[in-house]
Amino acid sequence: MTTISLIVATAENNCIGINNTMPWHIPEDFKHFKEVTMGKPCIMGRKTYESILDQLGKPLPGRTSIVVSRSGYEHEGALSAASLEEAIEKAKSENTDEVMIIGGAQIYKQALENNLASRIYLTRVHKSYDGDAFFPELDSVWYEAKKDARDEYSFVTLERS
Ligand SMILES: NC(=O)c1ccc[n+]([C@@H]2O[C@H](COP(=O)([O-])OP(=O)(O)OC[C@H]3O[C@@H](n4cnc5c(N)ncnc54)[C@H](OP(=O)(O)O)[C@@H]3O)[C@@H](O)[C@H]2O)c1
Repeated sequence: MTTISLIVATAENNCIGINNTMPWHIPEDFKHFKEVTMGKPCIMGRKTYESILDQLGKPLPGRTSIVVSRSGYEHEGALSAASLEEAIEKAKSENTDEVMIIGGAQIYKQALENNLASRIYLTRVHKSYDGDAFFPELDSVWYEAKKDARDEYSFVTLERS
């Protein structure tokens, strides 16, 4: 059985991005993201993939990137998929026990609306930020299975009941 998980960092007002980048710089959260996703296929929207290329100059190392695009976007560093469902099929064919959906806003929204995931690795940043990309309000099917609270942020694992 393959678990399908979202991983996201949200501000108190659910902001997740601005100008196709992250609104904050929290090195511990990058480390956490790396630890959780390493070795697992990572599904993302075309804009998030381009944002990673801008930041790192290359795709995420040690993880297969699967980029969802309706406009036929292709890049040598990634697999392409025309829908989220196709991306999940491609990810599962990597023989993995967990598939990571890593954003951005459009992809999180569709994954939640279509009940595609059963786990969310949520970094809750304890502050509000201005932005143009937001995470949806979660409904009550999600419960906190784990929580590691720090001063400026908390690492929370949510499971679907
Ligand atoms: N805080 C966090 O944890 C986090 C994580 C990831 C991203 N982000 C932020 O989120 C923002 C980007 O989010 P976004 O919503 O603008 O973009 P996005 O979700 O990364 O990508 C959107 C693109 O994905 C493709 N797409 C969307 N739905 C599709 C579908 N059903 N089938 C096929 N392709 C589909 C389209 O690509 P085409 O236009 O090529 O057709 C669309 O333009 C950035 O600010 C980024 O920094 C934050």
